[in-house]
Order: sequence, then structure tokens, then C-alpha cells
Amino acid sequence: MARSLSFLVALSLLVCAPLCFCRNTNGGGYLYPQFYDHSCPKALEIVNSIVAKAVAKEARIAASLLRLHFHDCFVQGCDASILLDSSGKITSEKRSNPNINSARGFELIDEIKSAIEKECPNTVSCADIMALAARDSTVLTGGPSWVVPLGRRDSRGASLSGSNNNIPAPNNTFQTILTKFKRQGLDIVDLVALSGSHTIGNSRCTSFRQRLYNQSGNGQPDVTLHPSYAAQLRSRCPRSGGDQNLFFLDFVSPTKFDSSYFKNLLASKGLLSSDQILVTSSAQSKQLVQQYAENVELFFQQFAKSMIKMGNISPLTGSRGDIRKHCRKINQN
Ligand code: HEM
Ligand SMILES: *[C@@H]1O[C@H](CO)[C@@H](O)[C@H](O)[C@H]1NC(C)=O
Ligand SMILES: *[C@@H]1O[C@H](CO)[C@@H](O)[C@H](O)[C@H]1NC(C)=O
Repeated sequence: MARSLSFLVALSLLVCAPLCFCRNTNGGGYLYPQFYDHSCPKALEIVNSIVAKAVAKEARIAASLLRLHFHDCFVQGCDASILLDSSGKITSEKRSNPNINSARGFELIDEIKSAIEKECPNTVSCADIMALAARDSTVLTGGPSWVVPLGRRDSRGASLSGSNNNIPAPNNTFQTILTKFKRQGLDIVDLVALSGSHTIGNSRCTSFRQRLYNQSGNGQPDVTLHPSYAAQLRSRCPRSGGDQNLFFLDFVSPTKFDSSYFKNLLASKGLLSSDQILVTSSAQSKQLVQQYAENVELFFQQFAKSMIKMGNISPLTGSRGDIRKHCRKINQN
């Protein structure tokens, strides 16, 4: 009797210890979906309801939140470094070439953070809020869902140079973009699937103008761009001026997360050079584009996998980093 009782105690310790001792910290250095189950059970619900309300008001915010997580993860890992404003020793990543006049959604992240702080103070990281908001944005626009591993902590610094150097530019070559992905532990399959994010959201004229007028320095438009589509784009993206004019990344279904982005690429109607080169620069990536254009389920499955992979880029865990009180500034202590 005593023996079976001590056996039961030992067994329950074995089973419960990981749950009991990992409640508020993440000493193991890995992320897991149940991270806030005890410390802030309403966290996921709060993120979802605020994102849903915002997307209902303005569909584009879904795209902006998805991109924010990407631009965060490629710079020092998914640590909310992108959210820090400039102050003291910090030079904000918001000033980088990829982000300036372009990255958006910061106010909504603030709104989510403040609602979560009210429910459970000093518990949920800004980095996890971005990962959850990216997933919810995808689902709300018709894309796949996935279970988000959690337990990221927030950085105490930002990297403007990291933001400029690590995030691919729209006129980078295929090789350069693939190299930038590989440096983050992502491969060609991740590159093509995650580029599928451009099935929602907008781009400014300045991000693709070069293709319309002087792609290779010979005064000619990009030969890989469909001529009538190019003409249409030129009407609102002139040679000079109109830098901030907005265009849909996927002109067929700009607010719907579907496979039309890939279909557009096969019709030479990708908006950015970095989009179109997925079919013009590599046989392997072209094949992936064809598969995703044809089979939306395959695209969704791979997109979810690749988002989890991207979300796992060098997280701060355990006692590294902070749970920031305000996402825009580091804690004062
Ligand atoms: C593969 C290399 C990539 C390049 C070169 C690239 C480049 C760009 C550019 C130039 C824009 C338009 C920005 C502007 O003009 O304001 C944009 C928008 C966007 N990007 Fe990417 N991107 C890439 C990959 C990704 C990835 C991996 C994701 C997400 C996982 C993503 C999500 C988005 C979204 C959703 C938008 C629309 C944002 C909005 O409407 O606010 N992109 N991207
Ligand atoms: C890419 O675009 C940037 C910014 O507009 C420009 O300075 C650079 O010359 C372009 N690079 C190439 C290879 O065209
Ligand atoms: C196109 O770009 C090249 C090199 O960047 C430049 O020398 C040339 O003047 C430009 N041509 C036109 C028509 O803008």
C-alpha cells in the first residue's frame, strides 16, 4: 500500500513537474503552445478579439501585422526589437529602409498589449503578441491556422543595421534573397511559401518603380513583367513622384489569403521583382510556385509549417530578455 502510494507520488511528479515548474519561465529554451495556459489563460483570446475587430474595420491591417512578425524575426530573432522607439542608446528599427514609411500596425500592438497587461501584468511578451497576431491575421483573411509555440521574451535593444541588412529588398536577386533566408535557417521551400504572404496587403510605388521604367539600366521595363499590367501600374506610379501611392500585392484578391498570388506569378503579374523572380530565376522555386498555384491545401500546409519555423528564429527564453511593460520601450530597472 505504502509502496504503491509512493509510486503514485513519483509518477505524478514525473508527469506534472514540467507543467508546475515551467509556468512563468522558460528555462528549457524552447517554445511551446501552452506557455500561458496557467499564467494568462485569456491571452490568446484577447489578441484574437482585438485583431478581429481591427481587421473588420480595415482589412489591410492583417497584412501589416503578418509582415511585422517577419521583420521582427529576421533581426536578432523574434524578440520584438522592431517595436522599440528610438531613445537613449536605442536607434529604432522603424527607421530602416525596409520599415520606414512602410511598416505599420504598431498602434494596434500597443492596444493589444495594454489590454493584456490589464488582465495579467508583466506576463505576456510583445514578441509572443506579434506571433499570435500574425497567425490570427492569416486565419481572419481566409488562410490556414496553426498552433503558435510561445514563451518568447523581449529584447533590451534593437538593430538598425540588422534591419537594413537582413531583410531582403524587393530588387535583390534570387540568390541574395535565398542567402538571407538561409542565414535565418530557412530554405527555398520556406522562401516560396512565406512569399505567399503577398497574397494580401499593399506595396508603395517606390518599391517596384524600377521595374516599370529602367529595370536593368537600359531604359526599358522589366521584360518579365506583363506589358499591359505594367502599363496599368505606370498610370499611378509615375517616373517621379507618387512614391507612396499604394498598389495591391495581389491584384486579383487583395484581402483574401489564397493561392492567387502564385497564379499571378505564372501569368507574369507579380508586383515586386522579388515576387516575379520566384518563377524566372530558379527551376526549383518555379516548381514550388506551380504546386502552390495548383494546390491551395499544399500551400496552406507549408505556409503554417514555415511560419512556425520563422517564429522559432533565435527566441530569448528563460532569464534572457524581459517581458516589456510597454512594447515601445525597455523596462526601467
Ligand atoms: C522574400 C523576400 C521579401 C521581400 C523582398 C519583401 C518585400 C516587400 C515589400 C517591398 C513590400 C511593400 C512595402 C511597401 O512598399 O511599403 C512588402 C509587403 C508585405 N510583405 Fe513582404 N517581402 C518578402 C517576404 C515576406 C514575408 C516572408 C512575409 C511574411 C511572412 C511578407 C509579408 C508581407 C506583407 C503581408 C506585406 C503587405 C504589408 C501591408 O500591406 O502593410 N513578406 N514586402
Ligand atoms: C535597388 O533599389 C535601391 C533603392 O531604390 C537602389 O538604391 C539600388 O540601386 C537598387 N539596386 C539595383 C541592383 O538595382
Ligand atoms: C537607367 O539607369 C541607368 C543606370 O542606372 C542610367 O545610366 C540611365 O540614364 C537610366 N535611363 C533612363 C532612361 O532613365
